[in-house]
Amino acid sequence: MKIVHVASELYPYVKTGGLADAAASIAATLADQGHEVSVFLPGYRAALEHADALKSERCLGLRVEMGDEYFSGELRRFSPRPNLSIYLVCRDEFFDRRGLYGNGERDYEDNYHRFLFFQKAVVDSLRLLTLNADVVHCHDWQTGLLPLLLRCAERRNRNALAGLTVFTIHNIAFQGIFPLRGYHRTNLPDEFMGIDGIEYYGQLSMMKGGILFADKITTVSPSYAREIQTPDFACGLEGVIAHRVDDLSGILNGIDTAVWNPSIDKFLPSTYSVDALQGKGDCRSELLRMARLQAEPGVPVFGMVCRFSEQKGIDLLLANKEFFVREDVRLVVLGAGDRRYEEALRGWCATMPGKIWVANRLDEGMSHLIEAGSDFFLMPSLFEPCGLNQMYSLAYGTVPLVSRVGGLRDTVIDIDADPLNGTGINFPATPTGLHDGLARALLLWADRGRHAEVQARGMRRDSSWAKSAAGYLALYAAEE
Ligand code: ADP
Ligand code: GLC
Repeated sequence: MKIVHVASELYPYVKTGGLADAAASIAATLADQGHEVSVFLPGYRAALEHADALKSERCLGLRVEMGDEYFSGELRRFSPRPNLSIYLVCRDEFFDRRGLYGNGERDYEDNYHRFLFFQKAVVDSLRLLTLNADVVHCHDWQTGLLPLLLRCAERRNRNALAGLTVFTIHNIAFQGIFPLRGYHRTNLPDEFMGIDGIEYYGQLSMMKGGILFADKITTVSPSYAREIQTPDFACGLEGVIAHRVDDLSGILNGIDTAVWNPSIDKFLPSTYSVDALQGKGDCRSELLRMARLQAEPGVPVFGMVCRFSEQKGIDLLLANKEFFVREDVRLVVLGAGDRRYEEALRGWCATMPGKIWVANRLDEGMSHLIEAGSDFFLMPSLFEPCGLNQMYSLAYGTVPLVSRVGGLRDTVIDIDADPLNGTGINFPATPTGLHDGLARALLLWADRGRHAEVQARGMRRDSSWAKSAAGYLALYAAEE
């Protein structure tokens, strides 16, 4: 099949979260299976500076209609593996910046223009390159208008650009909402400006556009697909989702086993596998050494790696300070984002020296070392569309403690609810829920035989992308 993915992040070129990993893995898996895959990505500075992209070639000059003006740009292409083309939509004014969405303090003020330009440029490119896509698969709000823009362009130019359009919701909390006065820049007919179109409480919502106008909608776990039908999780879009529920499905993400695999992980001081676990001990020693934490045998190490944002449940962790003061445990936290959380956790370091380490930065190597060197991994998210770190933890023999939401509940089987199949601990997303989870972790740690069984079951779980790719292919084929 000819499959086009459109995303605002792609590992290893640009990444702020799991979207980059997921988009890259889907594309690579489908390409390796012999499909002809193209991915469109904004030509951010970091992407253009990547060694692969230095070999990119200009393949189109762009002249994108935005209201009554035309914005120029160029399309560059490179191919990092057989069957895979990456197209970078370039316009320096929009994308030659350090950040993807903002400067660290706040979002860029021209994000509407940046991502509208990106989506319109993709539609133009599909036509000009005659890609004849069987499927155009869009990810998150930055591509939410694309299905509608594409169908309107087909109508206007009387030529088909895509068999099927798919819109995947990776996180419904980010919706791409902008002032409706920018509508004219879309050049869409007026009929889509109202409540049955992309208008949302007097504004314009890109996420709403994707949900209403893609042929199929997916999200990244079956549980999240159910949750976003309810007001507690849909962030105001439950009514819109209700219109499309027959076309909505949840397909669980996998992990890239070429990158997240303890037997070949190049970031680790020693590699290991389920049948030869010695290397995990070396990783643990190295982690404690790097974090300058007291290394005492028998004391469990809890790890956490996440964006520092409310979603990740850091408030639940902070509410459990007493546990960490009282118990003989170690805690290593790596995050990036909201400084409030870093400051609160730094306060813990001062009162519990030698027990806690926290860093506010993006650090890929350290994230691998934490996954490998910890005994337990914490993910007390308030909501989690899928989550990748709990799957990395399973693969690395690090028992995950997760709240019972979204993809976390779909990937981690609770050891008490299902003792024969349990791979981790899950709990309600509340401070007391986390407290009970931590207490159960200590009980498990005290029973080393049972801990080893749980660890081995997690390591044997198949988290590869093959299953997810099969799910997407079935969806793509259903409409052919
Ligand atoms: P989300 O996309 O909501 O942030 P996921 O669990 O899907 O959550 O993906 C997060 C990805 O980002 C994982 O690959 C994780 O290892 C990585 N990550 C998060 N924070 C950091 C950090 N501070 N340093 C390095 N990698 C990080
Ligand atoms: C989003 C979600 C996360 C998911 C990722 C990849 O960032 O927050 O749960 O794993 O997308 O689909």
